[in-house]
Amino acid sequence: MTLKQNNFENIMKGRHSIRRYQPNYKIPRDELNKIIEDAATAPSAANLQPWRVVVVESKEGKEKLRPLVMFNTQQNDTSSAMLLIFADTKYYENADYIYNTAVEQGKMPPEVRDNQLATIKSYYPALSKEKENDGIRLDSGFFTMQLMLTARAYGYDTNPMAGFEADQLAAAFDLEPERYKPVVVLSIGKADEKGYDSVRLSPEQITFWR
Ligand SMILES: Cc1cc2nc3c(=O)[nH]c(=O)nc-3n(C[C@H](O)[C@H](O)[C@H](O)COP(=O)(O)O)c2cc1C
Repeated sequence: MTLKQNNFENIMKGRHSIRRYQPNYKIPRDELNKIIEDAATAPSAANLQPWRVVVVESKEGKEKLRPLVMFNTQQNDTSSAMLLIFADTKYYENADYIYNTAVEQGKMPPEVRDNQLATIKSYYPALSKEKENDGIRLDSGFFTMQLMLTARAYGYDTNPMAGFEADQLAAAFDLEPERYKPVVVLSIGKADEKGYDSVRLSPEQITFWR
C-alpha cells in the first residue's frame, strides 16, 4: 500500500477522466480504504465531514447500478469499483464525537470545543433545506476532488459522473433517500486508455481582480 507517485504536478496535470479500465483489476479493499481515508483529510464546514461513500464492487452491485448510470455503462462495466458519493443530511449528529475526540487527542482545548459545539448545535439544524444541501454538497465535492488526486498517487484513475438517476440511487443501495443525497458517482480503477487533454479557460477568463 505504498504511493506509486508523489509528484504533485504529475498527479494534478496528468489527471484526465478515464472511462475504460482494465476489467480484471481489483483494487484491494485495504488500499481503497486507505484512499478513502486520505481523501477524508479534505476540509469541511465546522469539520463535520458530511461525505459518505458506497463502494460498488461486486458483480451484483455493478448489475444493479448499470441501469442507473445512463450513458456511463463502460465505466461501470470495466472499473474496479464505482464509488457513490452521498451527502448525509444528518451530518451534525457526529459533532459530539468529532469534537470530543479532538479534545481527547489533545488537538483542541475543552473550552474551544464547548463554544464550537454550542454554535454548531444552534446553527446547522436550523439551516433551510436549500442551504443545508448547498453546504454538504460543497464539502462532498472537496472530498471527491481529493479522492481523485489520491487515487492517482496510488496508481489509479477516475471519472466523476453526474449522469445517473439521482432519484433512485440511495434506495437502490439500501440508504434512506430522505437522509442521503447523491452528489456524484466516481469510477476508479487501472486505466486502459490514456484519456485526453481538454481545454481550460485562462485565468483572465475566470478571475475578477478588484
Ligand atoms: C460534476 C461532473 C459531472 C460529470 N459527469 C460526467 C458523466 O456523466 N459522464 C462522463 O463521461 N464524464 C463526466 N464528467 C467528466 C467531465 O466531462 C470531465 O471532467 C471534463 O470534460 C474535463 O475533462 P478531464 O476530467 O479529463 O480533465 C463529469 C465531471 C464532473 C466534474
